[in-house]
Amino acid sequence: MSLTWSAKDHKNMNQPPATGQKRSRTDTGNKVTVVLGAQWGDEGKGKVVDLLATEADVVCRCQGGNNAGHTVVVDGKEYDFHLLPSGIINSKSTSLIGNGVVIHLPGLFEEGDKNEKKGLKGWEKRLIVSDRAHLVFDFHQVVDGLQETERQAQEGKNIGTTKKGIGPAYSSKASRTGLRVCDLLGDFKDFSMRFKNLVRQYQSMYPALTVDVEDQLKKLKEYGERLRPMVRDGVYYMYEALHGSPKKILVEGANAALLDIDFGTYPFVTSSNCTVGGACTGLGIPPLNIGDVFGVSKAYTTRVGIGSFPTEQLNAVGELLQTRGHEVGVTTGRKRRCGWLDLVIVRYAHMINGFTGIALTKLDILDVLDEIKVGVAYKINGKRIPHFPANMDVLHKVEVEYETFPGWKSDTSAARKWNDLPSKAQNYIHFIENHIGVPIKWIGVGKSRECMIQMF
Ligand code: GDP
Ligand code: IMO
Ligand code: MG
Repeated sequence: MSLTWSAKDHKNMNQPPATGQKRSRTDTGNKVTVVLGAQWGDEGKGKVVDLLATEADVVCRCQGGNNAGHTVVVDGKEYDFHLLPSGIINSKSTSLIGNGVVIHLPGLFEEGDKNEKKGLKGWEKRLIVSDRAHLVFDFHQVVDGLQETERQAQEGKNIGTTKKGIGPAYSSKASRTGLRVCDLLGDFKDFSMRFKNLVRQYQSMYPALTVDVEDQLKKLKEYGERLRPMVRDGVYYMYEALHGSPKKILVEGANAALLDIDFGTYPFVTSSNCTVGGACTGLGIPPLNIGDVFGVSKAYTTRVGIGSFPTEQLNAVGELLQTRGHEVGVTTGRKRRCGWLDLVIVRYAHMINGFTGIALTKLDILDVLDEIKVGVAYKINGKRIPHFPANMDVLHKVEVEYETFPGWKSDTSAARKWNDLPSKAQNYIHFIENHIGVPIKWIGVGKSRECMIQMF
């Protein structure tokens, strides 16, 4: 047998397990549409997903946890989703929480119950949870807080995490001591033993950590029973969705490219891959099934928490963007830092994700400005650099080169078509589109579902 791989040697490779039918590389099944944040989060992903979800059969979360906060405004009612995919609002679609997500069970049920009170009916029947997803325990959240205090004491700065236990839970996963949904629903004696070991491990690192183990286990058992009807083998569920009848499958990214554990502004990042690879690993989707990848970017930039932000405006412009844009964190209630649109970061996000379209949100927030700036390049010692710096000391020192545009000084919130926009706003959008090199598919001019101009 030849040592080089060939399809002939592995003729069973493409056969689906259920039907035994042969598949070629061109018959890969349904394509998945992915929506991803192209900045530091809160770009309006929830709104874009909601728009697409009205026609979707399955809407999936692939990474992150309840550090995310996605807002959807429908018929004047505002919903905020943290762990639930924003598509849960569509009573005709199924929502899937994939293996790459870390789930805090009390948070999940609290979120569902809160939204039920707002009128979200039957969500538990529409939700599927992967048995491979890892669990975030209450003590992970406590440890998140302790680590932040420690960072502040040791280095004089913390990360500004959401304290939802994301870093500690993904650390447990990577160090192979984490516990998954399938463990909770399996032999509870074994689960309890592993839970106690995990608690002991963290207590040896953080002696101040107190955990009422028996109380936690009792609650987890109850949560597990409430969760049980929703749990499936996520990989097989996705396989069937991809290869069964034609289906519209949507993946809702959480967090964003510049918060990605590999590509973001490390260490001021989250602990998962928020770029396109996370859709494959967090759901078990083969890369060939990835179809459109839509990047979401505000018409300016915001960031929550600590870390470099080259186009940040610590002045009246930043304050205006913050107040007009109601830039307050959905999860933590913290004020978001604001600045001009930074096309260096959006282009960098495109290098990694290969966007096929962009949703440019919150254009309406710029309506009152006399002039609008856009960051187009970074310079070090007066020389343009072609890449996005990995080192935060370098990023901190870059000088931003700006293009300046005249403001349109008129209300765009009622615009529903391209021609409704003032020509100065059209010029601004055209410049962005040309600079990123990706067509702009949607332009957001308000919070609600209908406040979106669709270009094609
Ligand atoms: P996500 O985390 O990316 O889903 O975004 P968030 O929900 O955290 O933050 C986006 C905020 O902007 C929410 O309050 C949205 O309701 C709001 N929003 C989204 N698109 C637009 C828009 O085009 N115009 C205005 N004015 N608000 C928008
Ligand atoms: P959505 O999905 C904005 C930021 C936190 C912090 C850093 C690490 O709503 O866009 P973590 O709790 O994840 O360990 O915090 O990442 N962060 C976000 N900022 N939007 C988000 O999600 C975020 N998720 C995490 O503020 O700086
Ligand atoms: Mg958000």
